[in-house]
Amino acid sequence: MARKILIMHGPNLNLLGEREPGIYGDTNFEAVNARLVKYAESLGLEAEVFQSNHEGALIDKLHESRREFAGVVLNAGAYTHYSYAIADAIKAIKIPVVEVHISNVFARDQFRSHSVIAPVCAGSISGFGVLSYELGIHALADMTK
Ligand code: DQA
Repeated sequence: MARKILIMHGPNLNLLGEREPGIYGDTNFEAVNARLVKYAESLGLEAEVFQSNHEGALIDKLHESRREFAGVVLNAGAYTHYSYAIADAIKAIKIPVVEVHISNVFARDQFRSHSVIAPVCAGSISGFGVLSYELGIHALADMTK
């Protein structure tokens, strides 16, 4: 049976394709996810996608994921920069979580250059558009084999 991974998107990422396309690209959310699931498959992984605009829902899903998934690729959106609750949830689960960002968070507003989740993630990838997620999936594939 294929190893399962979770691709998790935080707030506002459901609006991919519409939201600030100059920064986040013009590919819509469904098309991005279809590409990611296919990429995961090409590496022998089965990917599930989860998105929420709510901090608690993301935390609940992280807790659940610890039994079902080999690892998580997480774009926590703006929660990246201030959610100690999400950081604690990542710390609490034993599976690897890879932090990803579409934009280069270090080249934007000052507040985006700090991630409170980075220290508890396996690694962080930022600035490569949707490819950031694929690099994260690749890292998980390698890390969990
Ligand atoms: C983001 C960067 C965050 O600063 C922002 O709040 C997002 C998206 C990215 O993918 O580049 O919502 O995580």
